[in-house]
Amino acid sequence: ANDVSGDIDHVLLSKEEIQAVVKDLAEQIDRDYAGRDLLVVGVLKGAVMIMADLARALHSHVTMDWMAVSSYGSGTASSGVVRILKDLDTDLMGKDVLIVEDIIDSGLTLSWLLSNLRSRGPASVEICALLRKPEAAKVEIDVRYIGRDIPNEFVVGYGLDFAEKYRNLDFVGTLAPHVYA
Ligand code: PRP
Ligand code: MN
Ligand code: MG
Repeated sequence: ANDVSGDIDHVLLSKEEIQAVVKDLAEQIDRDYAGRDLLVVGVLKGAVMIMADLARALHSHVTMDWMAVSSYGSGTASSGVVRILKDLDTDLMGKDVLIVEDIIDSGLTLSWLLSNLRSRGPASVEICALLRKPEAAKVEIDVRYIGRDIPNEFVVGYGLDFAEKYRNLDFVGTLAPHVYA
């Protein structure tokens, strides 16, 4: 009754593909931040999986902090109204900050977060996102590290939820329409 496989239409990124993408992202980040300390900021809750895997793939000195933000509503599209549910514990003054996200959909969450974190006096702020939906973009954001561009379909797994479910899948897949219809 609680088997999720019937809820998935098709797999977009397998466990193995995610591993390869994460390794590639970590290599780029290690190269760019060589000799510098990096503060990685994971955006709860979706970024939990990518943060855990990316942080372990990095060879640089990193510290980890978390922010919880949410756009209002629990539907399949974000509203652009962002609120802070949990703020950082770290003072960003003078720090090199890398925001880690699972997905950029409309871009509204990150656009807001970027200006919020930039106002706190960091040395730099860059973004790393596992997934991006170019066709869904409502705002342009400069994203330094992108894992994979994907079509504008509703996806779940590896941190991504629908009504808080499916985050624990070890792959990213599209949700079968019967689930949200
Ligand atoms: C999802 C996702 C991103 C954001 C992307 O988070 O994890 O943070 O939406 O959407 P956008 O580019 O249109 O703003 P959500 O608000 O669902 O919270 P969650 O991470 O706790 O699932
Ligand atoms: Mn999120
Ligand atoms: Mg969500």
